[in-house]
Amino acid sequence: MQQEFDILIIGSGAAGLSLALRLADSAKVAVLSKGSLTSGSTWLAQGGIAAVLDESDLIQDHVSDTLTAGAHLSHSDAVEFTVKNGRKSIEWLVDQGVPFTRDGSRYHLTKEGGHSHRRIIHAADATGRAVQETLIKRASEHSSIHLFEYCTAVDLITRRKLRYANNRCLGAYVLDSSTGHVNVFKAKFVVLATGGASKAYLYTSNSDGASGDGIAMAWRSGCRVANMEFNQFHPTCLYHPQAKSFLITEAVRGEGGKLLLPDGTPFMHRFDKREELAPRDIVARAIDHEMKRLGADCLYLDISNKPKSFILEHFPTIYDRCLKLGIDITVDPIPVVPAAHYTCGGVITDQQGRSDLEALYAIGETSFTGLHGANRLASNSLLECLVFAESAADNILAKLNEEADQVNIPDWDESQVTDSDEDVIISHNWDELRRFMWDYVGIVRTNKRLRRAKHRVDLLQHEITEYYSNYKISKDLLELRNLASVSELIIRSAALRKESRGLHYTLDYPNQGAEARDTILTPINYEWPQ
Ligand code: FAD
Ligand code: SIN
Repeated sequence: MQQEFDILIIGSGAAGLSLALRLADSAKVAVLSKGSLTSGSTWLAQGGIAAVLDESDLIQDHVSDTLTAGAHLSHSDAVEFTVKNGRKSIEWLVDQGVPFTRDGSRYHLTKEGGHSHRRIIHAADATGRAVQETLIKRASEHSSIHLFEYCTAVDLITRRKLRYANNRCLGAYVLDSSTGHVNVFKAKFVVLATGGASKAYLYTSNSDGASGDGIAMAWRSGCRVANMEFNQFHPTCLYHPQAKSFLITEAVRGEGGKLLLPDGTPFMHRFDKREELAPRDIVARAIDHEMKRLGADCLYLDISNKPKSFILEHFPTIYDRCLKLGIDITVDPIPVVPAAHYTCGGVITDQQGRSDLEALYAIGETSFTGLHGANRLASNSLLECLVFAESAADNILAKLNEEADQVNIPDWDESQVTDSDEDVIISHNWDELRRFMWDYVGIVRTNKRLRRAKHRVDLLQHEITEYYSNYKISKDLLELRNLASVSELIIRSAALRKESRGLHYTLDYPNQGAEARDTILTPINYEWPQ
């Protein structure tokens, strides 16, 4: 089946849905989600959205906090652009109906690590859910927005892949999980809003879909990617056998939570004068260091110093979830461990979200705009989704009257493949990949560990390519294939960085280099560094 739209948006998170809403009065828009519309990280976001909203706060301070957290690798033009547009984006969300938490007549602003002011607007401790519920409602009501759930983009269709000159993105092949068929979605403009790749790691705060599909698809279509070595580990995920991927928001530390060793001793003062409110890379590394030193399975985060009423008002979701597991956070410290949380690198774009490929845009976590540098500042991610959705929308709207490309797109060819009878290979490879990424390419790296990881990922990629060529595709196979490519990009980027900076810490080069430089990978001619 072939369908045609003005704009195809791959992803239904904060980035994809806000873009769709900004385009829909003028264009016919398709939005894909490979799971339900709420799959992805937006739904899970807790702490909130950073923006200069208080009169005692300054744009320059938010800019400076972002540059400092990013270990001075962020691009100052991208930082200024994002921060200056922050208030406007929040006002847009308020207009859409997002119920942010109030403090009397004003919005309550919370604090998180690396921020010099209270500037995080939030909806209690479930901000992402409040944002996404509102955007889904608005998008469902709009007759020009066509929402497709359980539809996974397999690959981008480009003029070059069809052997035409003047390369341009023409659409995507899309697997419909309800029928098992691969359909053609043709569009004048295609936008990747597919989120991050933290599922490359064994322990993650992300949901199952964070397999870096957009980064892998763009890479296969010839786009450059940048700074893939900077995978952010959130310091505090709940440690409990039944609590898969549950985050304990940084706002708990922002509101006075203390990190403790198993014997109840505080330790962050030994690592940074900002203690619990140091940027995430520092806190996660300190926890990792203390866990390894003590042989501890987890450390603890204690907010029981706050009144019960305060905890119930500000952290109701965390309170409920922990209580169900037998932890009463109003009296008990919370067992926590670091986990992979956010992909700072991604598809290189300009300030309008344009990638290297004509008519292909990337926004949100899948993109690299230059904002995050070597370590994303807390709550700057949802902000980036919103700000770049607006600028990409403006750019697309200005070009909407261009003629659609009339190239004939062939249907997906399944004539050479059979049904797989060995799905166990997929789950086995998936486990192996995520385990060696955690062990060798995690919070602390070395050249030797990276070489080991490279060897493993090469073998896996070889097996996956063979499997992909011989068997019918499934969502699991597509995700594994993408995760393996993105893992390879992470390993290569880490090996190229001969210094420690922000989230990239290597025992072989423990100091920060004099010059701040991005790691840019181009799909041709890239070699393993000597
Ligand atoms: P996502 O929200 O991840 O959405 C990705 C979408 O793409 C999904 O709809 C998915 O189905 C779809 N998709 C992916 N691949 C395909 C494919 N091949 N085909 C079709 N569809 C596809 N940031 C903050 O700023 N503040 C916070 O408080 C905060 N808290 C967080 C808490 C948690 C637990 C996590 C995991 C992250 C948090 N973050 C926070 C980060 C932030 O939530 C994400 O970076 C942001 O939501 C990403 O939005 P997005 O629209 O780019 O992608
Ligand atoms: C959190 O609430 O701690 C997550 C915030 C973020 O990832 O920006």
